[in-house]
Amino acid sequence: MSTTGIEAGVGAHPGIGGAPVSHRPLGILAALPQELGDLIEAMRAESGVRTITHGQRDYHLGTVHGASCVVTLARVGKVAAAATVSALIHAFDVEAVVFTGVAGGVGAEVRVGDIVVANALLQHDLDASPLFPRFEVPLLGVSRFAADASLADRLAAACERFVAEEGTAAAERFGTREPRVHRGLIISGDQFVASATGVQALRDALPDALAVEMEGAAIAQVCYEYGVPCAVVRTISDTADDHAPGSFVSFLTEIAGTYSNAILKRFLESRGSPA
Ligand code: ADE
Repeated sequence: MSTTGIEAGVGAHPGIGGAPVSHRPLGILAALPQELGDLIEAMRAESGVRTITHGQRDYHLGTVHGASCVVTLARVGKVAAAATVSALIHAFDVEAVVFTGVAGGVGAEVRVGDIVVANALLQHDLDASPLFPRFEVPLLGVSRFAADASLADRLAAACERFVAEEGTAAAERFGTREPRVHRGLIISGDQFVASATGVQALRDALPDALAVEMEGAAIAQVCYEYGVPCAVVRTISDTADDHAPGSFVSFLTEIAGTYSNAILKRFLESRGSPA
C-alpha cells in the first residue's frame, strides 16, 4: 500500500510457481539517534541503505541482521511518534513496529540499567475527565493499549539472551547493576519527569507502571487503530527523580546504543524462527 506515491520496494521476490511473495518490512524506530545504536551502519554493511525523506524524517530501507526493515527516528514526544508511525504504516507498509530507547524507572524494583518490555502502554497525561475517565482516549474507549504478545515475547527473549550472554560484562563496563528484564505497563507523556514528587504522583495514580517515557503509548494507539502489531523495549536510563537529567544524558551518550545493538541484533536474527 502506498498512499503517498512512495514505493517501499523492499523484499518482494518470486515465490512458489513464480507468484510474487511479499515480505513486508518491519518498522524500527527510536526517538533519538543514540537510541538506535549502530543499526543504520549495520544495514549499510549488510544490504546497502535506500533513504527516503518524508515529512522531514529520513526512512532507511534495507536488510539488517537478516530482516527487511525500515528504520527511522521519531524525535521526541507523542505527536512526533504518532506522525512517524503513521508514515511507517501508510507510506512504507510495515508489517509490525518495534520502538527502542530509554525510559525513566517508575516501578520500585526497576533500576538504572534494567530493561522493560511493554505488555501494555498508557498516556499518563491524557485527562478529559469528568467527560471521560482519566487516561481513556476519548471516543476510542481505551486507556491501556496492549503490545502484540508474540512480538513482545520475542523481544523479551532477545533481552534475556543479551543479559545471559553479556549482562555481567555490561554491568562491569558501565558501573550499573546486572540488568534485569521486566515486563508490564509503560506510561508515556509529553514531559521529561525529573522530580521525586513527579514520579511519586505517577506511582500513586498508576501503581503498576514500570517505566515512563514520551512516545510509546502514542505508537501503540496508532498501531491499535490500524491493526498493526507493535512492541516497545526501553532500557532504564534514570529513575525520573531529581537526578534524572544527569543520569539520562550520561546513559544516553555512553550506554543506550550498546543495549539497543545487543537487543535488536538478537531480536532481528530470531525473526522467522519459531518463538
Ligand atoms: N525517558 C528517559 N527518562 C525519562 C524521564 N525521566 N521522563 C520521561 N521520559 C524519559
